[in-house]
Amino acid sequence: MVDLSVRIGDITLQNPITPASGAFSWEYNDVIDLNRLGGLVAKTICREPRLGNPTPRMAETEAGIIQSIGLPGKGIEYFVDHIVPEYARFKPPLIVSVSSENTEDFAALAEELSVPDVDVIEANISCPTRNATGGNFAMHEEHTKEVIGAIRAKTNKPLWVKLSPNAGDIVSIARAAEEAGADALCIANTFLSLKIRTDNFRPALGNKFGGLVSPALKPIVLRMVYQVAKVVKIPVIGIGGVTKAEDVVEYMLAGASAVGIGYAGFRNPTALITIIDDLAAWCDERGIKKVTDLIGAVKDDDMEMDTLVAASAGV
Ligand SMILES: Cc1cc2nc3c(=O)[nH]c(=O)nc-3n(C[C@H](O)[C@H](O)[C@H](O)COP(=O)(O)O)c2cc1C
Repeated sequence: MVDLSVRIGDITLQNPITPASGAFSWEYNDVIDLNRLGGLVAKTICREPRLGNPTPRMAETEAGIIQSIGLPGKGIEYFVDHIVPEYARFKPPLIVSVSSENTEDFAALAEELSVPDVDVIEANISCPTRNATGGNFAMHEEHTKEVIGAIRAKTNKPLWVKLSPNAGDIVSIARAAEEAGADALCIANTFLSLKIRTDNFRPALGNKFGGLVSPALKPIVLRMVYQVAKVVKIPVIGIGGVTKAEDVVEYMLAGASAVGIGYAGFRNPTALITIIDDLAAWCDERGIKKVTDLIGAVKDDDMEMDTLVAASAGV
């Protein structure tokens, strides 16, 4: 039987399958055994209670759903007192996602979240629909460096950083996060998008723009994971459009050490468990003894790389 365990810095995941932030909660334990997951990733938490964005918050498109939830939540105090203990009942490491509009508060939040039951801080510096005034640090290298440096100074917990696919050059943002002290990179958050209703000519979402999530995004995010994994030393977690075990294999071949899954869990709450089982079977059928052998194992050394260089280089 294949060894599915992977290491993300100092943290060991029993398998590379984690839920994606915002698309999961401990209440899934009514449907699946949470102890089977690689990690538990909580919904992004902010300092104050937030209602989230105006409704409608989700709309269907031919290519997936666009959503603009707006990080609703009960605030950090409630989270630490009531939600962390809910997750702490389970064995997999708890990854806590956090967001703020400004650097000082972001760092302070990370410090306040560094309680014993929290295993990892995931800095969500990339929510495309948080609000109009800020918080999307991952669009700029300097903003990324500043906020991650400040968070790093305030917590000794492993620090994972969620990047934006909307940045012009995700590779330079990834480098900035690594230099500032990130222990791993989560690639990526959602793609900013728009749907307009043809019956009343109005945007379909109450917040106008939303993040597109869809299996159609996987090839694009896979390319980003590949590009980033080539240049950073820290582990990468691939997030975007995973619906089956082969998608996990692809992400790992591209250089990811683990994956995050959102959309597939909405379609079928048991999908993550199926993917874990199918991944084990996929490896066993091929005599793969350790899933880590897949990381970065894409066979492309003999291939022309100019297109990629051209696509990722600035002027
Ligand atoms: C309804 C919904 C809510 C989300 N909320 C968050 C969130 O709170 N924090 C975050 O970092 N990402 C959030 N995301 C983005 C997901 O974590 C993930 O990056 C994205 O859905 C792509 O993965 P997928 O294609 O497997 O869904 C949300 C996505 C959805 C669909």
